[in-house]
Amino acid sequence: MGGITVAAVAARGGTEGLPEALRAQTARWHEKVEAVADIPGRVRTRADYIDLLGSLAGLHTGLEAQLSAPVWDRAWVDVGVDIAAHCRVGLLVADLEGLGVPPAGSTVQPPFPCFGHALGCLYVLEGSALGGRIVAEMVRAAIGAVPTAFLTGRGRGHQWPAVRHALRRFDAQDGDGDAVLAGAVSTFALFARHLAAPELQR
Ligand code: HEM
Repeated sequence: MGGITVAAVAARGGTEGLPEALRAQTARWHEKVEAVADIPGRVRTRADYIDLLGSLAGLHTGLEAQLSAPVWDRAWVDVGVDIAAHCRVGLLVADLEGLGVPPAGSTVQPPFPCFGHALGCLYVLEGSALGGRIVAEMVRAAIGAVPTAFLTGRGRGHQWPAVRHALRRFDAQDGDGDAVLAGAVSTFALFARHLAAPELQR
């Protein structure tokens, strides 16, 4: 997706850097996952919402386990990231418990082939939190008051600036921007596949 490469954007210089390049090059992926997620069409009952949270819990558990793997400890420090601060499975579990449902099993995700992929995945996961408040409003409009700590990011603070900062730092360290883009695209694609799973098509 997207026509220009991260390297080409970086070569243009100016104010555009890795965060801007990622945004531009994954914009169509965002449109796609938003359409596939189809929150208004998908969440019409409390049971639908439980299905959605359960599915996201499985996905986030698998991805967060790989993001938090000890092999990346040093690399996160080098880009100024406290990876534990970006993990949101606890909020998903709290919401599911509030809905009276034990969290189901996790998906097993393969290890990232390099740190750039892990950083691209973090970009997508933390970016997905940005639209969460809007999604929470859609859910409440459809089914009334339900626990939405995961969607609203209750108690987490705003973690997005830390991701943008990490991307710039990685760029300044001559990190492989195309690997970050590849990691972001594969994470978007994973969400698109996961959200389109038959058991969630109602
Ligand atoms: C389902 C409904 C969704 C809505 C309504 C939504 C909405 C939004 C909004 C409004 C923003 C911009 C926020 C801002 O700039 O402050 C945003 C950014 C973002 N969203 Fe979503 N989103 C949704 C789903 C997702 C999903 C499922 C993913 C990924 C799996 C995702 C990934 C991202 C990313 C990576 C960004 C950051 C883009 C950038 O500025 O670089 N979104 N979203």
